[in-house]
Amino acid sequence: MSLQAVNPTQTQAWKKLQEHFKNGKHYAVKQLFEEDALRAQKFHINWQDFIVDYSKNRITSETLELLLQLAEEVHLKDAIQKYFSGEAINKTENRAVLHTALRAPENSSVFVNDTNVIPEIFNVKNKIKTFSEAVISEKLIGYTGKPFTDVVNIGIGGSDLGPAMVVEALSYYKNRLTTHFVSNVDGDHVQEVIKKLNPETTLFVIVSKTFTTQETLSNAETIRTWFLQNAQPQDIAKHFVAVSTNIDKVTEFGIAEQNIFPMWDWVGGRFSLWSAVGLTIALAVGYTNFEALLEGAYQMDEHFKNTPFKNNIPVVLALLTIWYNNFYNAESEAIITYTQYLQKLAPYLQQGIMESNGKSVDRAGNKVEYQTGTIIWGEPGTNSQHAFFQLIHQGTKLIPADFIGFAQPLYNSKDHHNKLMSNFFAQTEALLQGKTEQQVHDEFSKQGLNTETAQYLAPFKVFEGNKPTTTFLIDKLTPSSLGKLIAMYEHKIFVQGVVWNIFSYDQWGVELGKQLANSILEEIQTKNIKPHDGSTQFLLESFFAKM
Ligand code: F6P
Repeated sequence: MSLQAVNPTQTQAWKKLQEHFKNGKHYAVKQLFEEDALRAQKFHINWQDFIVDYSKNRITSETLELLLQLAEEVHLKDAIQKYFSGEAINKTENRAVLHTALRAPENSSVFVNDTNVIPEIFNVKNKIKTFSEAVISEKLIGYTGKPFTDVVNIGIGGSDLGPAMVVEALSYYKNRLTTHFVSNVDGDHVQEVIKKLNPETTLFVIVSKTFTTQETLSNAETIRTWFLQNAQPQDIAKHFVAVSTNIDKVTEFGIAEQNIFPMWDWVGGRFSLWSAVGLTIALAVGYTNFEALLEGAYQMDEHFKNTPFKNNIPVVLALLTIWYNNFYNAESEAIITYTQYLQKLAPYLQQGIMESNGKSVDRAGNKVEYQTGTIIWGEPGTNSQHAFFQLIHQGTKLIPADFIGFAQPLYNSKDHHNKLMSNFFAQTEALLQGKTEQQVHDEFSKQGLNTETAQYLAPFKVFEGNKPTTTFLIDKLTPSSLGKLIAMYEHKIFVQGVVWNIFSYDQWGVELGKQLANSILEEIQTKNIKPHDGSTQFLLESFFAKM
């Protein structure tokens, strides 16, 4: 059974939300804080090592109640049950969506077409454990008898972004292996990585769910050719492993059967880091840390599955996005992490969120008449404060932002951490409070500025404030808390898709570009241009003239 198709704009809650939006009582958050001393108490969720404070958003209790009513009216409860139980909710590809099964305990059962998938998941996990531990402990060695020093992950999209983000995020927990990521079909990318490698001590992990992706296969072939300049074909078995659902294609590429780590079609690429796609993670930080990452995600799964919507972190976050996206017409959301370790979180979530919810046809096959997926962007603070924060503070666009910070640093750099966190708190306060004209003039008189200059400068120095933020204060960046954080966003994506009445787990929109690239490649190779639009024709001719 598929997800029910309810047009959200036809629900009672939506109509009430439109009315509620018009009455504007939710708008002035600073004032709402003045009126209600308990606002932060009301609008925060304290769960395990997470505090999620969403009180700096433009909502009142009524807004939240109506949004929760919307979740009920679109049958979110039923959808969650279907999501976790392996129903084919990815209807356009007729697949279940079961990344959650990858972190479920060994004694649980999840059925796909009457087969419990948990035993096969644990078989693959055991294989990841045995292999990663053998590489780390130098039991497995390269073709000249030397231990591996480097691991190269070759993949793109979900076969790159997840592992790359997590390995970076968990740098503190890393072992002696140096990890590299090759993703772009840009030959300069792969050559820059090759430059740093010794074939005798490098392990290559080719990751591709389909094993048909142009970028990944081209990079894998280039690397194999380079490897064979020194080694013999039989040495490939010692240095190349693959993660894929397409066993035939992997074998065709020349990878030994024992070196294949299978995955399943019910794991979407952008949600796959919990599967064997996370092999590079297990190699980089060790299997125990990889397991802790999965365990953290499982904790968030349980929270999401079992907590009433009012205190359910992913549900509340998704509803807030819908509020801004569909009522305030906000187009984007920023993700600002107050740790450099999470510098790849925003690019990772760009795929997760935008590939999932960038859809304009609803689950009944009709064109939607409301906004769906938001634009995701972000960078770590404090760097981003010195880059794009000006626009969030004083620009014309409304940009709700997630602020993610950790109470404890990983190294004992207390002084730095205090400074970092003072910025973390100061920015959300500044975004909320702004600076009034009166405050600006008071500052001017303290500085002894003359009236004329003060009058002139005042409008530029006023900050409107009232910019919405949600703050995540987490105890410490560990494999477990990272697992929770990623799973939190995964479930937020799911809830948004359910409310927007779209299919979040296909990605047909990326296919056209791939098809056209293949036919243009043929034209470039044969120097035979087929008819194109005027601009493309002109550009191809210019390219031929310059190449
Ligand atoms: O082009 C988009 C996409 O299909 C993503 O969804 C996926 O993560 C990526 O390409 C890589 O696909 P594969 O793992 O099959 O190489």
